[in-house]
Amino acid sequence: MASAGSAVGLGNLWRFPTETGQHGGSAFLIVYLICVVCLGLPVMISEFVIGRSAHVSVGRAYSVLVPGSRWKWVGRLEVLTPFLILCYYNVVAGWTLRYAWESATGGFVKMASSGAGNAYESFFASFVSSAWQPVVCLFLFMAATHFVVVQGVSKGIERWSKVLMPGLFLILVFLVVSALTMSGAAEGLAFLFKPDFSKVDASVVLSAMGQAFFSLSLGMGILTTYASYFNDDADLGKSALSISAIDTFVAILAGMFIFPAVFTAGVAPSEGSSLLFIALPNVFQSVFGDLWILSYIVSLAFYLLLIVATLTSTISIHEAVTSYLVESFEWSRRKAATVVSCLCGSIGVLCALSIGAVPELTIGEMSLFDAFDYVTAKWLLPMGGLFITLFAGWRLSKQILLSEMTNRGTKSFALFKLLVFAIKWFCPVGIVLVFLNELDLLSF
Ligand code: TRP
Repeated sequence: MASAGSAVGLGNLWRFPTETGQHGGSAFLIVYLICVVCLGLPVMISEFVIGRSAHVSVGRAYSVLVPGSRWKWVGRLEVLTPFLILCYYNVVAGWTLRYAWESATGGFVKMASSGAGNAYESFFASFVSSAWQPVVCLFLFMAATHFVVVQGVSKGIERWSKVLMPGLFLILVFLVVSALTMSGAAEGLAFLFKPDFSKVDASVVLSAMGQAFFSLSLGMGILTTYASYFNDDADLGKSALSISAIDTFVAILAGMFIFPAVFTAGVAPSEGSSLLFIALPNVFQSVFGDLWILSYIVSLAFYLLLIVATLTSTISIHEAVTSYLVESFEWSRRKAATVVSCLCGSIGVLCALSIGAVPELTIGEMSLFDAFDYVTAKWLLPMGGLFITLFAGWRLSKQILLSEMTNRGTKSFALFKLLVFAIKWFCPVGIVLVFLNELDLLSF
């Protein structure tokens, strides 16, 4: 459940629709599904095997399994990545707080009754370009994450997420059903599901691969760390399968209400963040017509649950960096967490400002925010995945792999040969080809 909680987050509800919108809808979806099955699953299983056989978190797992080798640098890379992700993930996490607040104070209901067609759009634009609002939200969210991480990932959050994640799911289903009754439903679903292979090019493949790693929480050893807590009789193959299935299902549900809503509201599907933050409030207010109390309740419930889904993810990202500092430098948990929160918070402020108040904050052509997203999701995570499979396929003994997959011979695992092939050859070669292709060193 904790792994699924880490997987389901803004990656599904914000990043997936954004990427899908920008890369041609259905074409992206198909490439994405292929990436989840062919690259995501084997990498996830490798992370599980490494974590459960080493019994320590990722920063040290490599040193435990192969003492004194250079593989420890992979462990370190896998700590840098979550650090960078946390910096910009928190910005969007902060937005969810602002939207929950606006729902709670009835702001969205008022916008609906004001009759101005673009009220939601201007609300979003003025919020993100404000110099202080996104920053305050970011700090609040960081503080909440910090609080939980300092306590250790408490029983509380696990217990809560077991109740709240199914709640989020029910709301999603409800949203899909209501979105299907909207006038843009057919167009929206066609955009998401009608394959158009002419749109598949190098950047679509790189983006789909990055999104698969991001959404499944792969490539930076989070799942290695979590797997070090798994029971000896947990079935690694089945766990990987169900986590991927839940995560993918949630992403597709998100697409199934966002795109109909987008086409109904007349927003261009490729507009990125605005999909979730403009189209969605619009749906809440328009499906219920005059029954404003219902739209009030549903929109508030949705944003509160979105906060929970996001928090389970920020905790896992924060925890990855914090536990490394605790183990490697023998800092106290409080000190490590404080250093991480302060550093990520400060860099996060720059990311937040770069898409609003201070557009000069750029790297190359991209805003700082986009640059962080691009470097981590599209390059560092797949690169982490590459090293993980190289390690599991070539360095780790096959006996360990077999013994972990069969729980020390107590059960059978029919697809072992296929798995070994995927981990040894298919994943590393596939990831490298996608990289080369993006760098224009290959022309497909
Ligand atoms: N998977 C989460 C999401 O979809 C984000 C996340 C949590 C993550 N932990 C991670 C991404 C580890 C990459 C690696 O929102």
